[in-house]
Amino acid sequence: MLKLSTMTLDLFADQPAEITTETVLKGAIVLRNFACAQEQGLLSEIRKITADAPFRHMKTPGGHSMSVAMSCCGSWGWVTDTRGYRYQPQDPCTGEPWPAMPVVFSQLATAAALAAGYQDFMPDACLINRYEPGAKMSLHQDKNERDFSQPIVSVSLGLPQVFQFGGLTRGERPLNVPLGHGDTVVWGGPSRLRYHGVLTLKAGTHPLAGPYRYNLTFRFAR
Ligand code: SIN
Ligand code: FE2
Repeated sequence: MLKLSTMTLDLFADQPAEITTETVLKGAIVLRNFACAQEQGLLSEIRKITADAPFRHMKTPGGHSMSVAMSCCGSWGWVTDTRGYRYQPQDPCTGEPWPAMPVVFSQLATAAALAAGYQDFMPDACLINRYEPGAKMSLHQDKNERDFSQPIVSVSLGLPQVFQFGGLTRGERPLNVPLGHGDTVVWGGPSRLRYHGVLTLKAGTHPLAGPYRYNLTFRFAR
């Protein structure tokens, strides 16, 4: 009896995580488990990128150090410092161009956008966020990009964290969307400028990502 149940568990362990689609708001779609099949490749590329462009805690224009550690890859990287928010082609820490966007990243982002109904998404910027327990991101809009007809694609890896979708104005009460490893959120069209953020990360250990949640945010910046 015990043997049989162990065998059954083993059979299920080999099943790929099922991808399902949830439209949470008009133009805002959660693709559950969408990135699971690429988990190893994505995490190994994060390690390579951040060997060259290390994670750092950037400062907001107000002078506060962000709790999330960030890096970037692609032609453009998003940065913030006391001069403001912007995209730039070089990493301010090294003076070098940001590491190239790996093919496994761009293909995943294009496929996720398509699965959510947005064709021909070709990201030129990927922000890599690393949250440790206690880290969060307050509600904000992604609005430093030039072309708001292009969606945002956001991939979660590692520990679970609650994502929040607010309204088009800051005051609206946000919707809480728990995100797990591999879940991918796409927002565009009428939701492109929605406020969004994540609640404080709770401590835990993920089998592949350890004590962290990683988030890859793909944009068409320029
Ligand atoms: C972001 O808005 O840049 C990150 C959101 C997230 O970590 O899911
Ligand atoms: Fe954002």
